[in-house]
Amino acid sequence: MPMPPESSRPRIPDRLLLGPGPSPMAPRVMAALGHPVLSHLDPAFVPLLDEVRARLQRLFGADGESLALATPGTGTSGMEAAVANTVADGARVLVVVTGYFGDRLAQMCQRYGGQVRRLEVEWGQACDPDRLRAALVRDRADMVAFVHAETSTGVLNPARDLASVARAHGARTIADMVTSLGGHEVRLAEWGIDVAYSCTQKCIGSPSGLAPIAVSGPSRQALVPARSFYLDLALLERYWRERSYHHTLSASLVYALLEALILIDEEGLEQRWARHRRHHVAFIAALEAMGLSLLPAPADRLHTLHAVRVPDGVDEASVRRMLLDRWQIEIGGGLGPLAGRIWRVGLMGAGSTSDTLLTLLDALERALTAHGHRLEPGAGRAAATASLAETLLRE
Ligand SMILES: Cc1ncc(COP(=O)(O)O)c(C=O)c1O
Repeated sequence: MPMPPESSRPRIPDRLLLGPGPSPMAPRVMAALGHPVLSHLDPAFVPLLDEVRARLQRLFGADGESLALATPGTGTSGMEAAVANTVADGARVLVVVTGYFGDRLAQMCQRYGGQVRRLEVEWGQACDPDRLRAALVRDRADMVAFVHAETSTGVLNPARDLASVARAHGARTIADMVTSLGGHEVRLAEWGIDVAYSCTQKCIGSPSGLAPIAVSGPSRQALVPARSFYLDLALLERYWRERSYHHTLSASLVYALLEALILIDEEGLEQRWARHRRHHVAFIAALEAMGLSLLPAPADRLHTLHAVRVPDGVDEASVRRMLLDRWQIEIGGGLGPLAGRIWRVGLMGAGSTSDTLLTLLDALERALTAHGHRLEPGAGRAAATASLAETLLRE
């Protein structure tokens, strides 16, 4: 068959990905994608899977007896795997809903037969552990599910405290760590979290398509027969450990994930968390200097994803479009009730650098000025630069 002429193939632009994900990929991760494809059962593939499991276990801060692997699919497959393997028919599940993804988690638990109760928290706020305590005193639950980093609102929930309250009331925990793993402190074993899942395309910095998941050693006994064949953790473990065929795992995605995990280990986890925090603090300083503010209160803010309020009279979508068309910068809009009211700016993985931050600030200043928002020229960049210098001195 004749090949279509070059000109008929749509052009793929080179964007700076500063939305809620995917995040930019480091050159070494991109290069890893180009390695020759191996079959999912090739003996040479085996050591790569072992290496990914070991590094994921460390990244989650999970105990030595835990199960750590990656399910096929995006973050939602991790969510579905966590629920399908832990929620028995009729199990009482209390889901903390602090935004769009907490709601998705509640829907998922319902679909898998859980008796779901929702602890609703106003969007933009974190869940106070006392509210969880009161809800569990009122009505017992077998499981508590919550989102650690709520990407729809830019809120960080107090995972350690929520897990501790759940445990004190005899409930096991599922934690969504899609926007925290690799960017925020995560310590599954120390915090006593039973099951957690994430994605590859945010703070880890590889392409979407795999979902890291960890089940703590003690909780492995409590897994239920999965309703999903594709996401059955028992079958997945047999493939990841014993190479018993389950599905045709993408070697290319595994190469990229492994390279991203090696980069994380080379950087050091604590240093990586500090880097995300440093650029978050500088971004906040810049936003304030530009007359902008964030939706969550200071104590509740994620370091990886920023929910920036759209100033009165400014057209949210038009600013986003201008950043994309003129400067190739992607940021996100709001979801659900926050549509049109916030921008979601991700500084995650290879996107959390001073260069990307300053590039964004220069473009944002011009886009906001063009849309009638009055600000002092250069004030955002100056505030960010000062903050970065100050934090580096203190670190
Ligand atoms: C907190 C959270 N959970 C789950 C998901 C779903 O992940 P995915 O879109 O990769 O399926 C997302 C996506 O952004 C998310 O932010």
